[in-house]
Amino acid sequence: MNGILEFARAKRERRPFALLTAYDAVTARTLHEAGVEALLVGDSVAMVVHGFPSTVHATPEMMVLHTAAVRRGAPEAMIIADMPFLSVRRGVRAAVEGAGELLRAGATAVKLEGLAGHEEVVASLVGSGIPVMGHLGLTPQSVHQLGGHRIQGRTPAAAERLRADALRLEQLGAFALVLECVPAALAKAVTRERSISVIGIGAGRDTDGQVLVVSDLLGLDAGFRPKFSRRYTDGHGAILQAARRYVGDVRARRFPAPREVPA
Ligand code: KIV
Repeated sequence: MNGILEFARAKRERRPFALLTAYDAVTARTLHEAGVEALLVGDSVAMVVHGFPSTVHATPEMMVLHTAAVRRGAPEAMIIADMPFLSVRRGVRAAVEGAGELLRAGATAVKLEGLAGHEEVVASLVGSGIPVMGHLGLTPQSVHQLGGHRIQGRTPAAAERLRADALRLEQLGAFALVLECVPAALAKAVTRERSISVIGIGAGRDTDGQVLVVSDLLGLDAGFRPKFSRRYTDGHGAILQAARRYVGDVRARRFPAPREVPA
């Protein structure tokens, strides 16, 4: 996919599509080559790459830096960049400028969490020609207010609120919406009701597309295994094994071999 029209077409054609997070150039290049339809420079970069305990530590500078790296790695990819914590709460003008920086760094679109209190920001971004992806359900930037990483939309009232927010996002002109950690039946209903693309993470298999955090897919963190994610390889084990072999080779003077020494 290289634009928001492709999202709409995939939804019309009921063709499920796959997104992954990406934070660096070489991974972005490989994921694009694998056919991943869009890359998300998620604010999860603060945790995955920078080792912070939550996404509230992502800054505008961090998001710009990683968006530019991903763009350099995957010049043809559709790239969505997260608006970091509080960047949509500093007034419409600051939010539009922040999103503009992300687009100048190479993003095709921006994603922002929640809706209450920044509807005007969504409308202004869309009105400024910036494609917007919403993010409802578990919104990690509000994790302290939500009381942890819990499933959202479980009560009838909460489900109703989420459906209303999804409708509002569509009315405001968002082209897509991430639904994180909500019951599968609710995600299915929102996907059917809405004409914008619904991308699930921990939301069952009936959404228009799926997104995963790339380090979860690669199994890079041995101690972190979210229930809704799937580990497609043991990246931690592979890195550990390769690094141990290298250490052994250096200590035994097996590396470098003569053929690895520049003449
Ligand atoms: O930052 C992120 O990685 C995300 C995904 C979990 C959707 O927002």
